[in-house]
Amino acid sequence: MKTRITEMFGIQHPIIQGGMHFVGFAEMAAAVSNAGGLGIITGLTQGTPANLAKEIARCRQMTSKPFGVNLTFLPSLTPPDYPGFIKAIIDGGVKIVETAGNNPQKWMPALKEAGIKVIHKCTSVRHSLKAEAIGCDAVSVDGFECGGHPGEDDVPNFILLPRAAEELQIPFVASGGMADGRSLVAALALGAEGMNMGTRFIATKEAPVHENVKQAIVAASELDTRLVMRPLRNTERVLKNAAVDRLLEKEKAMGANLKFEDIIGEVAGVYPKIMKDGAMDAGAWSCGMVVGLIHDVPTVKELVDRIMREADEIIAKRLARFAA
Ligand SMILES: Cc1cc2nc3c(=O)[nH]c(=O)nc-3n(C[C@H](O)[C@H](O)[C@H](O)COP(=O)(O)O)c2cc1C
Repeated sequence: MKTRITEMFGIQHPIIQGGMHFVGFAEMAAAVSNAGGLGIITGLTQGTPANLAKEIARCRQMTSKPFGVNLTFLPSLTPPDYPGFIKAIIDGGVKIVETAGNNPQKWMPALKEAGIKVIHKCTSVRHSLKAEAIGCDAVSVDGFECGGHPGEDDVPNFILLPRAAEELQIPFVASGGMADGRSLVAALALGAEGMNMGTRFIATKEAPVHENVKQAIVAASELDTRLVMRPLRNTERVLKNAAVDRLLEKEKAMGANLKFEDIIGEVAGVYPKIMKDGAMDAGAWSCGMVVGLIHDVPTVKELVDRIMREADEIIAKRLARFAA
């Protein structure tokens, strides 16, 4: 399938694996790229630019296909070494960067000068237009369903994607709630040029996370995610567990007085415990509502091939029936 996104990134299928903290290691990115999609290494998970450089080199040994790096710009008193991470990306010859969080304007000149294509993750039309205005090449539009940070506007993809299509000139992918061939065809119908998946890619054989995480995803339904940190205007969609219940009780009890320090035990430094050790109640971890559509743990290639086969069938058979 050819779209503006497959052309832009030089990939076979319009399927991207979004950056995921403590999931987006070289194994994950390479598996997706080898399957014909676009795999993405999560920059900040590496901790230092030197480690990111090593991870990029490791990924290059696992695939000859294009892959990207995610850089998440977080509001922080002591920010990570972003110039160092960008240097590691440029020196590593990576040509695609997925930015997320704060506006990446400050970093655009360096990225563009190195010939890097930038896809910025946005949860609203106004942020998408801003991304277009500052020279981003594409946008990943994240609806309210998404795992991770859906923003504060709460607009689901059935509205957000066609609104983005009404306004944007640059191509965009649909992100949030995407799982299968139906998702891809729907995303294309609503104006997107492909799709980005997070949660679905965690439940694959190659995802370098503890088996407990994959089984928790398969076991969960679409009713099992919760929004946390809304009082801090840092809303995150996570899978419900004991830590999330505790966190929500604190939010309820403290109301507008809640501070980040009050919930540090439930959110800070919990990813390695969950993703590596499989301690499923160790804290709050991002997970999308799409978890209700995930019933198996295929290889990445099986998943991607299945999506493309389903999409072709829906377009050629199911939709063709309605075209007369
Ligand atoms: C476990 C997990 C960790 C994530 N970490 C990040 C991250 O560090 N940076 C980022 O930009 N997005 C992150 N995301 C968001 C994904 O890249 C993607 O936008 C989102 O998962 C799409 O929604 P879906 O889960 O419904 O597919 C994360 C998502 C998950 C599920």
